[in-house]
Amino acid sequence: MSASTPSASNQPTARAATVYNYGSINIDHVYRVPHLVRPGETLSSTDYQIVLGGKGANQTIALARAGGRVTHWGQLGRADEWALETLRDAGADIDEVALLEGSSGHTVIQVDDKGENAIVLFGGTNQRFTLERIDELLTNADSEGWLLLQNECNDIEEVIRQALNRGLKVAFNPAPMTPAIRELPLTELSLLFVNRGEAAALVELDEQSDADTLIRALQTALPGVDIVLTLGAAGAWRIDGTRGDTLYQPARPVQAVDTTGAGDTFIGYYMAALQADRDATTCLERATAAAALAVQRPGAATGIPAVNEVETFLQIAGRPE
Ligand code: RIB
Repeated sequence: MSASTPSASNQPTARAATVYNYGSINIDHVYRVPHLVRPGETLSSTDYQIVLGGKGANQTIALARAGGRVTHWGQLGRADEWALETLRDAGADIDEVALLEGSSGHTVIQVDDKGENAIVLFGGTNQRFTLERIDELLTNADSEGWLLLQNECNDIEEVIRQALNRGLKVAFNPAPMTPAIRELPLTELSLLFVNRGEAAALVELDEQSDADTLIRALQTALPGVDIVLTLGAAGAWRIDGTRGDTLYQPARPVQAVDTTGAGDTFIGYYMAALQADRDATTCLERATAAAALAVQRPGAATGIPAVNEVETFLQIAGRPE
């Protein structure tokens, strides 16, 4: 089996619904720095790379590398067409990625010696979807499918409402978080992925609140929505929107080199396991393992592991204490 061949255990079932990812595609300019730059400071970087990124593209690549069926709905500047190769090679359907004149979405990312990052984002073509194009994408979508989206493309409220009207299930990752997110029809979602900061902002609690408080407050605010709370090295929680029962998956201790895209890797692997009808425990296990591998490698899209690497990691590591 080649490094990128999905294993049978995570193949979508014959009736598996496509995941349509209305997602950003960014060109990431990644600078390795001894520490994140301080106000007024000029800091030399020790390495510089230009790579494919974007929360949307990263999640699509993770979903496809996990063996899932994913169609990416995106927009990229024509000059950056090279960046599509990684999406294509991962096995994603990129027929609905449009090449436009003008600047692609792009970022300046600092990664420090602890693997932490700071990101400046310019929306570019990710922010230039027209209502006509959105309507066309949704009209042609299979209503049995899932819509997955983040907050790096324009008119996400329109996309969510149209998807819901057409019967698609919606999974949402409100990253990056903005005040407008709270005005979205969040109670209509099927699945919400949040990190600690996003969770706290949504329910207006202190970011230092414990995970149980955050997830219970989210469930009260969004009854019926399955919620996954990712906490990086502190693992991940899931609360069932209908039954209210919670699951906790610890993270495996690893040496982080670059945490950029770890959350995206988690989401892509979780969605692929869900698409393959795996239970919630397995979804969490696979997603957490994939993210643990991703943080040990540089880059966002470049750090996303292949499915056989995740399976080997799960076998070797076993279930954590
Ligand atoms: O989540 C990581 C991603 O956030 C990066 O690839 C960058 O493009 C920003 O969108």
